[in-house]
Amino acid sequence: MLKRTHTCGELRKENTNESVNLNGWVNTVRLHGQVIFIDLRDRYGKTQIIFNSDDYSGDFEAVKKLSMEDVLSIKGTVQARGENAVNPNMSTGEIEVIVETMELLSETAPLPFVITDRESALEDLRLKYRYLELRTDELQHNIIIRHKSYQAVRSYLSEKNFLEVETPILMKSTPEGARDFLVPSRLHHGKFYALPQSPQIYKQILMISGFDRYFQIVKCFRDEDFRADRQPEFTQIDIEMSFVDEEDIYSNMEGMTQHVFKEVIGTDLPDPFPRITYDEAMSKYGSDKPDTRYTLYLQDVKQFTDMSDFNAFKSAECVKAIVVPGGVKYSRKMIDELTDVVKTFKAKGLAWMKMDAGHLTGGISKFFEDNLQKEIKNATGMDDGDIIFLIGDERSVTEKSLGALRVEIAKREDLTDKNNFKPLWVTDFPMFEMDEETDKLTFLHHPFTSPTTQDVNELDSDPESLKARAYDLTLNGYEIAGGSIRIHSPEIQNKVFSLLGLSPEEVKEKFGFLVEALTYGAPPHGGIAFGFDRLVMLLTGSNNIRDVIAFPKTTSALSLMDGSPDSVSEKQLDELNIQIKKKK
Ligand code: AMO
Repeated sequence: MLKRTHTCGELRKENTNESVNLNGWVNTVRLHGQVIFIDLRDRYGKTQIIFNSDDYSGDFEAVKKLSMEDVLSIKGTVQARGENAVNPNMSTGEIEVIVETMELLSETAPLPFVITDRESALEDLRLKYRYLELRTDELQHNIIIRHKSYQAVRSYLSEKNFLEVETPILMKSTPEGARDFLVPSRLHHGKFYALPQSPQIYKQILMISGFDRYFQIVKCFRDEDFRADRQPEFTQIDIEMSFVDEEDIYSNMEGMTQHVFKEVIGTDLPDPFPRITYDEAMSKYGSDKPDTRYTLYLQDVKQFTDMSDFNAFKSAECVKAIVVPGGVKYSRKMIDELTDVVKTFKAKGLAWMKMDAGHLTGGISKFFEDNLQKEIKNATGMDDGDIIFLIGDERSVTEKSLGALRVEIAKREDLTDKNNFKPLWVTDFPMFEMDEETDKLTFLHHPFTSPTTQDVNELDSDPESLKARAYDLTLNGYEIAGGSIRIHSPEIQNKVFSLLGLSPEEVKEKFGFLVEALTYGAPPHGGIAFGFDRLVMLLTGSNNIRDVIAFPKTTSALSLMDGSPDSVSEKQLDELNIQIKKKK
């Protein structure tokens, strides 16, 4: 191998006449009779190298046989390109290298897909050959952005006195919201470790130990069903602070997020970040992670539908609407597609009306007499050429389904400029919600979140109306971080566990160590965790979390490259004293 003197992104006009060695992959080959042009690529860029049968000392026929993704080592002389041949799109576009000697370091097998075009293959095939897909410009760029993001986070937090502390990957299974991944113990048959859903309990214990500013860039594991922005193993920027309230968390985290955006992509974020309460977010946007890049607000129209002859909404708890400017263009087919969207959120249907020459037409318009039409127009700001979509149902169904419709319409109307970043804190979450399936109270964030009251009696009287000291940071419709001020009193912690239906024995068994730790001088503390992958996804402008993870899992939690999960040998199972049940 001719050891490289430069990378493939490095040579400039100033290097003209220098003798250089380059190593890299063949990106493209163009044959022009006795001259062969190759773009040689490494992670720093591409350089045009030229084999001219007159100058080249080696076997010219062998050069003709080179194919894309072969690995080469060459020695040659840098030459300035003629004015017409300069390529302004390449960092090395002003030069080319005339090759004198070449070594073929590694020959590629026929490629399963075209590396220069990600669209040329389905994602499953690309994931099987992930190492090839990672060679694409787009994924190389994403991995670099990810690297820069780690560095920006670490330097910011370290500068602000945060200590990076590692916490265990093998831990006790403690209910935290999602399903645990379990690891059987060989030394203790019948016992299991759980992989952490997050280092929540450890970081709280670190506060009790006096490390008042902690952070960790850490893998978390959750055995959930997956969507485009979720992975079974994902990375958090996990943070905890002592002697703080919500304002301290907001200002520190705004500072960190602003720093990361500035350092990594040169973008200035607003200062401070706006805030909205959970109730207002649900009411206005139908979502607890509202995308505020566009308006399309949910508007309450129950008073108007109640006065109309349209009876289907009369008994509905809540009737809300969205006005889409220019929406008269929506065809029957499009409205049917949008109806399918809201139905997945349990809405029974999607009512609509269009406005033409000051009058409502189509859909349910015939149930609204002239004066009522005017009132709707005035109240909603609807204009000629607009369409109004209405849903009437229980409040949560109405708001969530219109919230989903709002997101779908914004996508179709192209209202989501990915270079426009709109962070937003969502605050004042409810402490508990009723789980419809089990009919039991469950927590919205996690069971260590402090309620706004410290009064145990108040906690008992009407738990469903209680608010939590919890907050989420959202960005462009994604929840990028979530956290809370924690309970630091053992009494309140026990009370919250009991409201969640845990018996004192269960509390002792699952969380005894935490409650005990709280009795030994726990400082008031709180924290937050950022979904690092989601943050990087937004920084790169992608909408797929797999695009920013080197080796991601599919939506069904498979790793197609190495074929995991996989079965294990009888011997391994014997050591663990585990028997696989026959399929039912
Ligand atoms: P939470 O469960 O809200 O809080 O998680 C914090 C952030 O992690 C990201 N996230 C995910 N990203 C990718 N794939 C997943 N499956 C996934 N699940 C969550 C989200 C989310 O906002 N211990 C608490 C934090 C705290 O209270 O300090 C916690 O884990 O961006």
